[in-house]
Amino acid sequence: MYSAATDRYDSMTYNRCGKSGLLLPAISLGLWHNFGSVDDFKTMKEIIFHAFDKGITHFDLANNYGPPPGQAETNFGKILKKDLHKYRDEMIISSKAGWSMWPGPYGNFGSRKYLMASIDQSLKRLCTDYVDIFYSHRPDPETPMEETMMALDQMVRAGKALYVGISSYNAEQTKEAVDILNSLGTPCLIHQPKYSMLVRWVEDGLLDVLEQKGVGSIAFSPLGQGLLTNKYLNGIPVESRAGRRLGNGAILHSDISPDVLRKIGLLNEIALRRNQTLAQMAIAWLLKDSRVTSVLVGASSTAQLDDNLRCLNNLKFLPAELAEIELILH
Ligand SMILES: NC(=O)c1ccc[n+]([C@@H]2O[C@H](COP(=O)([O-])OP(=O)(O)OC[C@H]3O[C@@H](n4cnc5c(N)ncnc54)[C@H](OP(=O)(O)O)[C@@H]3O)[C@@H](O)[C@H]2O)c1
Repeated sequence: MYSAATDRYDSMTYNRCGKSGLLLPAISLGLWHNFGSVDDFKTMKEIIFHAFDKGITHFDLANNYGPPPGQAETNFGKILKKDLHKYRDEMIISSKAGWSMWPGPYGNFGSRKYLMASIDQSLKRLCTDYVDIFYSHRPDPETPMEETMMALDQMVRAGKALYVGISSYNAEQTKEAVDILNSLGTPCLIHQPKYSMLVRWVEDGLLDVLEQKGVGSIAFSPLGQGLLTNKYLNGIPVESRAGRRLGNGAILHSDISPDVLRKIGLLNEIALRRNQTLAQMAIAWLLKDSRVTSVLVGASSTAQLDDNLRCLNNLKFLPAELAEIELILH
């Protein structure tokens, strides 16, 4: 029977999520990979327990995480029901809908029909009465924004979600979504964009909008799915995400291009000078911006999680280091 570490709140930093009452850990754990039916259940449990023992209170899921879709929620639900249930009030569990989940016209994008059915399915798989955050997983070009936002508002009013968020909406779409949610009386808590040293679109307007509107942010794939670690510096390990050739948006061999390898080699040298691993520096680089509430990492082992958590020992950058990093990235 799992019993949480008594010192679990001693080393984590908690940041306020926008202008809300909610604090999120600087590092959160995502279950997109490593929690499907192809993965080892014992390892999943170890990762989740270890995360919680280290003050990671926030676990991020989506309806389609697996494989197969839904399996990550099912596995997490089993762990929650058996071992973590007594800590439910100490946990922030999120889910999402927006990508293809079931066949036919009602299992994809942003209709009220899809979102309302999907949250009910997620709650069953997760073995919980409510999620803390429910996201619209991506903007839907065909559905009126009002309809998607009204569905999110409805989930909160029905007690199925405590807060709502949006993911991968651009700056303009975000303004519109936030304004609609405010008019409905359910503020947008958080935006979840892809953001790392290698993917920086959020710097062209989105982060400014979030700051103006008092919305928090949580950066997904902060390590570029493993690229911004020392793992691919000397080839592609068979057991890595790229090596496993997983498909469904997972990093490909072709993503590990000579240009990327050159960049990560140079970044690794700066990290070493800072007495950090590349993964630690990549996370610290995101957290240096106060508009980034949390960084949402994935991990296939507790050792990776520990490596990533140690970034909290050094979040400061000298101006010269930042300039050198800019030079490499451009
Ligand atoms: N909203 C969206 O549309 C969206 C999309 C994608 C992801 N997300 C969320 O973001 C979360 C994180 O995404 P991600 O998994 O792509 O994040 P990531 O942190 O960029 O990559 C995680 C992967 O990198 C490797 N890794 C992590 N730490 C390492 C370390 N210290 N040393 C060496 N390798 C390390 C592991 O892969 P190996 O298997 O190679 O060990 C791990 O599974 C997801 O779980 C999900 O919750 C959201």
